[in-house]
Formats: sequence, C-alpha cells, structure tokens
Amino acid sequence: MARAATVFVCSACAHEAPKWHGRCPNCGEWNSLVEEARAPAPSRRGGGGAAARAGRVARPVRLADVEAVKIARLLTGIGELDRVLGGGLVPGSLVLLGGSPGIGKSTLTSMALGNLAGAGRRTLYVSGEESAAQIKLRAERLPGAALDVPVLAETDLDTVVATLDAERPEVVVIDSVQTLHAADLTGAAGSVGQVREVADRITRLAKARDIAVLLVGHVTKEGALAGPRVLEHLVDCVLQFEGERERTYRTLRALKNRFGSTSEAGVFEMRQGGLVEVQDASARFVGEATRAPGSVVLAAMEGSRPLLVEVQALVSPSELVPPRRIANGIDRNRLALVLAVLARHAGVGVGSADVFVNVAGGVRVDEPGADLAVALAVASAARGVVAGEGERPVACFGEIGLTGELRSVAHPERRLAEAAKFGLGPTIAPAGAGRGATEAPTLRVALTAALRAAPRARAA
Ligand code: TYD
Ligand code: MG
Repeated sequence: MARAATVFVCSACAHEAPKWHGRCPNCGEWNSLVEEARAPAPSRRGGGGAAARAGRVARPVRLADVEAVKIARLLTGIGELDRVLGGGLVPGSLVLLGGSPGIGKSTLTSMALGNLAGAGRRTLYVSGEESAAQIKLRAERLPGAALDVPVLAETDLDTVVATLDAERPEVVVIDSVQTLHAADLTGAAGSVGQVREVADRITRLAKARDIAVLLVGHVTKEGALAGPRVLEHLVDCVLQFEGERERTYRTLRALKNRFGSTSEAGVFEMRQGGLVEVQDASARFVGEATRAPGSVVLAAMEGSRPLLVEVQALVSPSELVPPRRIANGIDRNRLALVLAVLARHAGVGVGSADVFVNVAGGVRVDEPGADLAVALAVASAARGVVAGEGERPVACFGEIGLTGELRSVAHPERRLAEAAKFGLGPTIAPAGAGRGATEAPTLRVALTAALRAAPRARAA
C-alpha cells in the first residue's frame, strides 16, 4: 500500500505547504506549520473532484426514534475517579488525563487498571515513559491486583496499534501520548503533529474495537503544552489532575465529559501505598487551619461538593518595583483584581509590599467565589489582625466586582451548611446568601465584619 504522504498545514490560515517553514508563506504567522499525514488522495488540481463524487445517501433518524442503549460502564474501583467520570469508564471512549509531571497520573492509572484486572477485565498498560521494570516497581507499592496488569513498554505507534488490535483489551492506558511516535511523520515525539496523529489513530481503533482508552498527557506548569490542548476536541472526556508535587493533596476534575457532568471533582492524597481518596477533606483542612493574621477559611465548591479550605496571605514590605505577587492555588489575574479593588474601594493598599497568597494543602480553587477569601486574607495580613473572633477561624465566600460590590456565587446554601457543619460561622457571604450568613453587600462591609478588632478603614 502506498505510504501516507505528509504535508504541513498552517494552524492559523490552513495553508498547505509541502515542506516545513518557520513562517507561514501565506499568512506570515511564525511557527504555525504543523505536519499532518495525508492518504495519497487525488490532488486538489481536480477542481472539486472529491466534492463531485457521489456519496452514499444515508437516512436521518428522528431523535425520538433513536434507540438508546444502556451502556454498561467499567468501574475502576476508585470511587472518586468513577464519580468524576460520571459513573465509570464507557467502553470505546477516550479519556485524556492531563497533569504536570510527578502529580500521580501513572499511579492513578496503574491503580485503576489493577482494580479492573482484579475484577476480571482484560487490561493493558502501554508505557513509552518507563521500562517494564520501573512500572513493576511502582505496582509493587500499590494495593489490589496492580501486578496482574500486562504491560508493553513501547514508543512506536504502529507496534502499539497492532498490539492493541491483537490483544483486544477492554481497557488500555497509554502513558503518555507525548512519548508515542508515528514513523510516517518526521516531527519529534510530543510535537503537535505527532500527538494529533497518535490520538487520531488510537481513537479510530478504540471506537472500532470498543476499547476504553485512558490517554495520559503531560501539562506544563504554564498550562501550555505541545499536546493535550490540541486533543481536547478529539476525546470524549478531559480530566485534569492537579495539586503540587511536594504536597500531599491532589484534585481530579473533569473539564469536558460527553458522558457525565463537568462539575464533579475528587480529592486524593498521595501516600506510601499510592493514592488514597479523601472524603473528609473539609475536616482536615479546617483542623489544620491556623489562627493568625492572614488566614481565613474559604467555603469553596469542588464540583457539586462543598469544600472548606484555608487561604493564607503574607504581606511584606518590598523594595522591588513592581513588588512581587505570588499566587499558589488561585489564579494570578484574580489576585491582581482583588488587590486593585482592595486598594480602590476598601482602603487596603499594598502597592509597596510583596503579596503571597496560598491555598493550604496544595489545593487549587478555580472559582470566583474565592475572591472574598483572598481579599480578607490579604487585608488581615496587611493590618496584622486576626480575622474572626475567638478560637474559630472565619469562613467566607463571594465574588468581588470591580466596583467593590460582593456578588453571589453558585450554591450558597451548600457552602453555608458545610461551614456550619464544622462549627464555623456565621459565614461572611454576599447579600441574599441565606440563613447562617453574615450578609455583606460590599467588600468594605465584609472587611468590617471580618476584622472587627481592626482600626477603621481609611477613606479610599
Ligand atoms: P507518578 O504517578 O509517576 O506521577 P506522573 O505519572 O504524574 O508523572 O508518581 C508521582 C510521585 O508519587 C512520585 O514522585 C512518587 C510518588 N509516589 C508515592 O508517594 N507513593 C506511591 O505509592 C507511588 C506509586 C508514588
Ligand atoms: Mg508517569
């Protein structure tokens, strides 16, 4: 059979070139040409020849007449993972698991395969990252039947596809998509063209053979990656595994899910014997919270579950211009916005100080409801005043608007109930939050409520 030809396609203007250019000859965009495999198709010189070819006429079906088949899901036996997936793996589906190196992607997928193998499912672990001996070393630390999983240490895509076709596993892990290499493309493994080709061929096989695929992909710290991002539209489900490598807690979220909700999230802890699900995360974080200036508790939502986390801030005089703004666990731009509103509308200026904000435990909160906690933690640190009264930390949530108002966020009742459950409260929340809240229409009012012992705020 003729070998697939390769072309270079500009990702900005879709111009096709026979060879790679640093800059697109058509639109002038730099580094936009991506190699793609093409079947030796009729050339475009045919003047729309392909369009003129008559296709088979298919019959559309009225939605009401479509037979809905109940899909039997494959349970990984890891409760938090199954929940985030929407009730387990769907046969023939592709799940992309992204996360920074060392976060525990291989551990999670090894554990899942181990459980599936233990339940009598045919599994296969394909690794282009580690040797079979290394994978075995990890599996020896893990519970369950992790050692029963067959492994294939291979980076050649053709070999992997042929092996999958011969072995017919029900569930396969490809660790990682960036390490497989398609021989008919010249680009290095992990380049955009390669990653797309790898995912495309695996998808076709998975759909044809009904194999559930867990595709592991590395995400760099900046979230920029020659990889997973370009695959998001190809796969059925995108899971993000996050947290900090040095810390024990990790969260697993669905960013996209064709078979379930994207609002689910799971919390794990990395221990000696692998990842352990954390079901009482709020209790732990509240228990670990400190009673010192710069600390408040945020009543956050992790998917549909409320979660109490400690937000800490440190404000320290700085000679640097501009001073440092370091955010761990929250969005940096959100921090900048909160600092600007604090200065402009609440009389808390930190223009000549370094500001560090940290969500304790290595948890990441990506929701506007975190704004108020960040603001209160920074104000508490800047003024050297403990937030709240007595022994109990103050809990809060709410989005901060640009005019200094507090805006409501999703699920106030669940957040309030969670805070009350752990003896925190009343919780400082936007107006209309309901029973159990100290309602504050503006950031300034919230600040007064939280920092009662503080000197009166200066006029902005
Ligand atoms: P790993 O799953 O290899 O991360 P990734 O595939 O995302 O790069 O493992 C991450 C870290 O977890 C590694 O540094 C070792 C540690 N670890 C444990 O602490 N306990 C364990 O039982 C295992 C298997 C790993
Ligand atoms: Mg790994």
